[in-house]
Amino acid sequence: MIRLGLVLSFLLLGVSCKKEQRVEEQVKTPQTETTFQLYEMSEMAALMEQMYVDNQRIRERIVKGLAIEGEMPSIHQRLFTAVMTDPSDKDLFFETQAKAFIRVEEEFYADPKEQTKDKFNAIVEACLNCHQKKCGGPIPRIKKLLIP
Ligand code: HEC
Repeated sequence: MIRLGLVLSFLLLGVSCKKEQRVEEQVKTPQTETTFQLYEMSEMAALMEQMYVDNQRIRERIVKGLAIEGEMPSIHQRLFTAVMTDPSDKDLFFETQAKAFIRVEEEFYADPKEQTKDKFNAIVEACLNCHQKKCGGPIPRIKKLLIP
């Protein structure tokens, strides 16, 4: 069961920036075992997956009307330093969007009484603003975080 979960999560990872390239790698390798080992996630990709999970948790709590416990995960600050799959992606656009994203997220955590749906959706919009230009693959997945 654990193994199946692992395989599934790696399949999910296939839906990232370099979608087509990864699919090609899969086709070339007949044994699934080795295929999955080919995915070496960058530090940035791993951070992104963590941010996804963190925000999924927040989303659930808002939908259920529960208070958000805890502070902003400090690991999110690694957005500025984490190593990317393609280092040339770390340009002025990225830096600007990263700063904007952290600002919006800090705003959300600043006042526990004001952790509203709108403020949460602003975080997700900040994810999307960077992804619009930097990494299109996960956009449909990120949009699922928006609370209608
Ligand atoms: C400042 C730009 C920026 C922001 C903000 C941003 N991302 Fe990303 N995201 C990227 C880049 C660049 C990559 C590719 C990382 C790599 O492959 O090294 C990425 C990759 C991803 C991936 C795919 C990771 C994988 O498995 O390969 C997911 C999922 C993701 N981001 C979700 C999010 C979510 C959710 C948020 C907001 C909470 C967010 N991103 C905010 C730039 C951004």
